[in-house]
Amino acid sequence: MKKRNERTPEQLSLLVTGGAGFIGSNFIKYMLEKHTKVSITNLDKLTYAGNLENLKEVENNPRYTFVRGDITNLKLIDRLFRRRNFNVVINFAAETHVDRSLLKSSPFIQTNIIGTLTLLEAARQHNLGRFIQISTDEVYGSLNKEGNFSEKSPLKPNSPYSATKASADLICRSYWKGYNIPIIIARSSNNYGPYQFPEKLIPLMIKNALEGKELPVYGDGLNIRDWLYVKDNCRAIDLVIRKGRIGEIYNIGGNCEKSNIEVINFICNVISEEKNRDKEELKSLITFIKDPRGKAHDFRYALNSSKIKEEIGWEPTTDFESRLRETIRWYLKNIEWIKRVTTGEYREYYEKIYGKNHQKIRDSK
Ligand SMILES: NC(=O)c1ccc[n+]([C@@H]2O[C@H](COP(=O)([O-])OP(=O)(O)OC[C@H]3O[C@@H](n4cnc5c(N)ncnc54)[C@H](O)[C@@H]3O)[C@@H](O)[C@H]2O)c1
Repeated sequence: MKKRNERTPEQLSLLVTGGAGFIGSNFIKYMLEKHTKVSITNLDKLTYAGNLENLKEVENNPRYTFVRGDITNLKLIDRLFRRRNFNVVINFAAETHVDRSLLKSSPFIQTNIIGTLTLLEAARQHNLGRFIQISTDEVYGSLNKEGNFSEKSPLKPNSPYSATKASADLICRSYWKGYNIPIIIARSSNNYGPYQFPEKLIPLMIKNALEGKELPVYGDGLNIRDWLYVKDNCRAIDLVIRKGRIGEIYNIGGNCEKSNIEVINFICNVISEEKNRDKEELKSLITFIKDPRGKAHDFRYALNSSKIKEEIGWEPTTDFESRLRETIRWYLKNIEWIKRVTTGEYREYYEKIYGKNHQKIRDSK
């Protein structure tokens, strides 16, 4: 058996895929700042969700290299492995939006399943220390009002997005069992923070509120998500790389359950304070629409993260309101960033989901 390529944490050579997206770009900046000897190669296809502007502050860092490419391209990945002698792969690259997966699932199958398989195949040819698969709480499906998901909960994905993520997790497991590839799976809950593409709830609501557009809420807005600050997630993944046990799964939850409508009301309150706008006028933009996700819209997620707490000593920070306020302030300051990332393709997509054809259920009043 080949010897695993494990060096001290300070000398890690990381292949980060999807590093130009929301969590990946936060992670790259976190790691370069925290560990002075870590070097990172960021392999990203730059889909609509990938944006090199997210990485401006590290683009000239000698320990950082960007490679534009697709994780389904085995030749390219093999070449990168040969040149850079990676000891850890962290696979963030994915198609990530549930609504898009319901419009067209093939890019999700291609990137999330075939892409992960391709990376694992490359890992088989080289001696890797760790392969961290970035997964999601959505693989477990939906909860009612009670209970939470542990790492042992069955996989019951309800959308093409979550089904492809669950498939990738199972393929990772089989490469651990079958080929001894040193995989670890990290399943986090809903992240929030700077640089999230404004198709996801929090930045979408901020953008629309600022533009005086409708704030579209699916169904009754009572679906519950467990919110995790993105930098807490980066800290957890860093710890998983260094201290996680190979072959294991770790839940990374925010321990912070909020209904969508609670989050939207909070956003309206903060924008009203920060921008001196009439609170009631902002809230009157809230529009309840027929849920385009149908039965694929999970009611509630909640993660039990006691395993990562007990084994690795990670816990999320607890001040959701101040973190969210900080996040909203970031978007208010970076309104030009929002404008730049939401050009042509975004508008087309927005029309498909929220355009004139959506069925309004009721206004906020
Ligand atoms: N955002 C969340 O709340 C959340 C929660 C749990 C898990 N996750 C998981 O975390 C990971 C990152 O999520 P995110 O929100 O940062 O996603 P994102 O959509 O913001 O970014 C995805 C990145 O992957 C890149 N990419 C897409 N297809 C690619 C391909 N074939 N080859 C190379 N690069 C490709 C994109 O260009 C983009 O930079 C995903 O695997 C997602 O499933 C996200």
